[in-house]
Amino acid sequence: MSTLTSFDADKKNLYIRWSLHERVQHWVLVVAFIILVISGFALKYPESWWVRPFTSFSGFMDLRGLLHRVAGGAFILIGFYHIFYLFLTRRGRAMARAFVPGVQDLRDLSQNVAYNFGFSKHQPKFAHFSYMEKAEYLALIWGAIIMNGTGLLLWFDSVTISLFSRWSINLITVVHLYEAWLASLAILVWHLYYVIFNPDIYPLNTSMINGKLTEKEMREEYFLEWQALQNQLKQQQELAQEQPETSRGEVE
Ligand code: HEM
Repeated sequence: MSTLTSFDADKKNLYIRWSLHERVQHWVLVVAFIILVISGFALKYPESWWVRPFTSFSGFMDLRGLLHRVAGGAFILIGFYHIFYLFLTRRGRAMARAFVPGVQDLRDLSQNVAYNFGFSKHQPKFAHFSYMEKAEYLALIWGAIIMNGTGLLLWFDSVTISLFSRWSINLITVVHLYEAWLASLAILVWHLYYVIFNPDIYPLNTSMINGKLTEKEMREEYFLEWQALQNQLKQQQELAQEQPETSRGEVE
């Protein structure tokens, strides 16, 4: 099994899961998304308690529409950048292959359901991406397509009205709003559970900050990849032990 994670060169009990390039993509997406959520919901619910701290800044509401469009543009650009990364780099292509869902993911899902309901004593073991991570990533792709598409149609509303009709704007606004709710709740409930509130992870999975996982995290979360890395290490050590003997034999 080829591995996307590697040993940290300095410390043997740390593993490198995310490259700097991947982490920068993640954080650009996070910043753009947070600005979109605040500036988007501030239009719909300007009186709500969590929007009020922003709207209390004089000038926020004047800038809100511009902020939403700038962050929307960044959100679209980082999406395209990510697509190029997936297709044009070797590691990106390997990542894309690792994300493709397969029959094993269905088996893992049913095994996890059986485990959670007490019908099985064994939790499924994962390789580089678990079925939950794959589902989350696919949901992100789906959400981004809907938000970018409807966002652009709202942005260039005169083109939209000339192509379709005036009422299409109302329909597109409803789709944009409900997908915004879905995306925001998915991040709040689903993603934040996996990276913060999961009792096995709490207080924070820091791999998107430093790119690294500990031995314990690697064993518990990605056992199959951890096992493959241990096998690779064993093979390298065996090879290194054999080589000095071979070279000594050659000298003699
Ligand atoms: C992905 C996260 C996004 C969230 C959470 C979000 C949220 C929202 C919300 C809640 C509204 C108000 C809807 C209403 O009035 O009923 C809105 C409006 C709008 N959104 Fe987004 N949006 C997102 C992405 C985008 C993107 C990528 C674009 C542009 C390409 C965009 C462009 C717009 C435009 C043009 C409006 C109409 C009014 C305005 O804000 O001035 N949005 N958005």
